[in-house]
Amino acid sequence: NIMILFGPPGAGKGTHGPKIEDLLGLPQLSTGDMLRAAVAAKTEVGLKAAAVMKAGGLVSDDIVIGIIRDRIKEEDCKFGFILDGFPRTLVQAKALDKLLKEEGACVTKVVELQVPDEVLEERICGRWIHKKSGRSYHVKFAPPKSMKVDGSGKPVPESMKDDETGEPLMQRPDDTASALKKRLASYHNETVPILNHYQPNGVVSGVNANQGMDGVWGEVLGALERGG
Ligand code: AP5
Ligand code: ZN
Repeated sequence: NIMILFGPPGAGKGTHGPKIEDLLGLPQLSTGDMLRAAVAAKTEVGLKAAAVMKAGGLVSDDIVIGIIRDRIKEEDCKFGFILDGFPRTLVQAKALDKLLKEEGACVTKVVELQVPDEVLEERICGRWIHKKSGRSYHVKFAPPKSMKVDGSGKPVPESMKDDETGEPLMQRPDDTASALKKRLASYHNETVPILNHYQPNGVVSGVNANQGMDGVWGEVLGALERGG
């Protein structure tokens, strides 16, 4: 069971990934979360990736393929995994095929979260995350229980805390309108074309992600049931 959660920045990969993880008992592997952890830990990879990520560019294929290659060897990936944010280029897609082939496996499902670019800026610029768990919140669409607003209706930063741990939430340095433009450009130019790589295998299911989160989740469940 090897699934790819596919979609532009703000589509809901990080929102629905953990729920699929709970449902199927498979780990969600987010290259974005792994890279952010590397940046925070100031590892060699993190130091190389930080500036590229902040500007909304793509980290080099070699680096992300290396991260995924090491991660999928771990014990908890034995029965499969859910990929979030990988592969993002044709080079990465082909490298993944090769890694899986060595284990006699292949990609069994690609869930494409479809949503027009126009709605993504509001989602991205209102997002707050809990760094350790990767949980996403949104000031309007998914506020944390602790959120307080000031006189002008803006959230008080100190009040933004994770529902489960009570730890502070933060905003991502790449969640700005200008970095989003670059992220969307690379999504359309480099990432969307790899759907053609999977289409012939009949594993791609499109989901309307331009609706409330519960509606999206219902369609994701439907897509998972359609087999593959
Ligand atoms: P990554 O972390 O993967 O970012 P991304 O692809 O830009 O995706 P996001 O995390 O922004 O979106 P999401 O779909 O997870 O949205 P979410 O569910 O949180 O990558 C970051 C960077 O790392 C890249 O730019 C690149 O530099 C590097 N990188 C990573 N992987 C790489 C790779 N393979 N190759 C090269 N470089 C790589 O939702 C967003 C917000 O909207 C949240 O606040 C949420 O609450 C809200 N929301 C979600 N769904 C709904 C809904 N239906 N209605 C209303 N609000 C909603
Ligand atoms: Zn994400």
